[in-house]
Amino acid sequence: MNESNLMEKIVSLAKRRGFVFPGSEIYGGLAGTFDYGPYGVVLKENVERLWLSMFRDSRDDMYGVDAAILMNPKIWEASGHVAGFADPLVECEKCKRRFRADHLDDATKCPECAGALGEARQFNMMFKTHSGAMEDDSATVYLRPETAGGIFTNYKNVVDALHPKLPFGIAQVGKAFRNEIAPRDFVFRSREFSQMEIEYFVPSGEWEQAFEEWRKMMHLFATAIGLPHDSVHELEVEAKDRAHYSKRTIDFEFDYPFGRKELWGLAYRGDFDLSAHAQASSIELAYLDEESKEKFIPHVIEPSFGVDRTILAILASAYKEDVMGEETRAYLALAPKIAPVKAMVSPLLKNKPELVEKAREVRAELQKIHPAIAWDDNGNIGKRYRRQDEIGTPFCITIDFDTLGETPDLKDTVTLRHRDSGTQERLSIAEVAERIRSAIQ
Ligand code: GAP
Repeated sequence: MNESNLMEKIVSLAKRRGFVFPGSEIYGGLAGTFDYGPYGVVLKENVERLWLSMFRDSRDDMYGVDAAILMNPKIWEASGHVAGFADPLVECEKCKRRFRADHLDDATKCPECAGALGEARQFNMMFKTHSGAMEDDSATVYLRPETAGGIFTNYKNVVDALHPKLPFGIAQVGKAFRNEIAPRDFVFRSREFSQMEIEYFVPSGEWEQAFEEWRKMMHLFATAIGLPHDSVHELEVEAKDRAHYSKRTIDFEFDYPFGRKELWGLAYRGDFDLSAHAQASSIELAYLDEESKEKFIPHVIEPSFGVDRTILAILASAYKEDVMGEETRAYLALAPKIAPVKAMVSPLLKNKPELVEKAREVRAELQKIHPAIAWDDNGNIGKRYRRQDEIGTPFCITIDFDTLGETPDLKDTVTLRHRDSGTQERLSIAEVAERIRSAIQ
């Protein structure tokens, strides 16, 4: 399978099986926006939940916030986004199309009509709107370009409410918006996307140690969501390419079908943000160390994960095909922990009430382990398996006459079919329950 072909197959499967749809599709779409469908939304939630469980809920040094998307515009002035969150834009003098200059091989010639491109100018990527009934500049607000802003502005609230000891971190999952000049590559570069971000506050002398710890944990998360180890690479970002706030950045890159590109970022933001917000708001944001009585502005390590790029990396690495003679079986080898459906139960024949009744019983039993146990009695068993393969369901369970005791030794056993190998085993219902439990733990 060549790589552009793979991308087409992923986009097609995502739409056909209800993972990701183009945004506003019935009105011809809206560039750079996507809607998550029934399986996509659960996959996304499973990834976010796993992230929250690993990095917030299971740790004593982490706290959560869910800040407003609309924030006082002074925040984005202090953070440097109003002045500097821009990409170089060029416009074709002939066809008037606009491009991001640093994405072009030749920034003098239009890639669409070969007309001359004008001088590059800086284009601010923040979406602007108005808050309240006034539509003048005094009412301008921005849709947040990173979730980080809502963490820095709540740093003092968290310290005052919970008195955490340094080092500690604040985690947030939510939407961010960037008016990208050229959205592209499916959900990879969109105008509305989700981030999972942590600002981890440390005394300045401890930043290197914290940076190394988070670097390891980001790799652990990649493994937990099933990204192959050799598809995630670190790139030490040169000073000239780093964001204005960063003193060190490592990009975690992934081998996407369209090339090796940034998946996540790990940045050392120093005391840039808290100092800038303290100065602009005239509110003291220094931390008081209760033991030494010292007051200082903590430094910050920021592991930042784009949710949509994570979903695309998961789909790209999970998409597999088995060619069996004339037929090709497509399946998503999703890690059971994040698979939207954990198992499917079906009666061998849907017109045999005794099989249906037993299958319903088995499903209810398995739903005590996890609610996402699907039911499918449409078409033949082979078709049911194919449908579940395409959405990445790790296990299929079939109830047949042996389950009911036609062969007395096999009473209360079922067939358990494994998605990746397609192999089947005969197991007791209790054994199947155990298999599912241990796979999703
Ligand atoms: N708070 C730091 C920050 O926002 P960033 O490198 O600009 O840093 C962090 O963004 C992550 O957000 C990226 O690594 C990527 O996963 C995701 N991201 C950024 N721009 C995106 C876009 N236009 N579409 C989808 N995801 C994006």
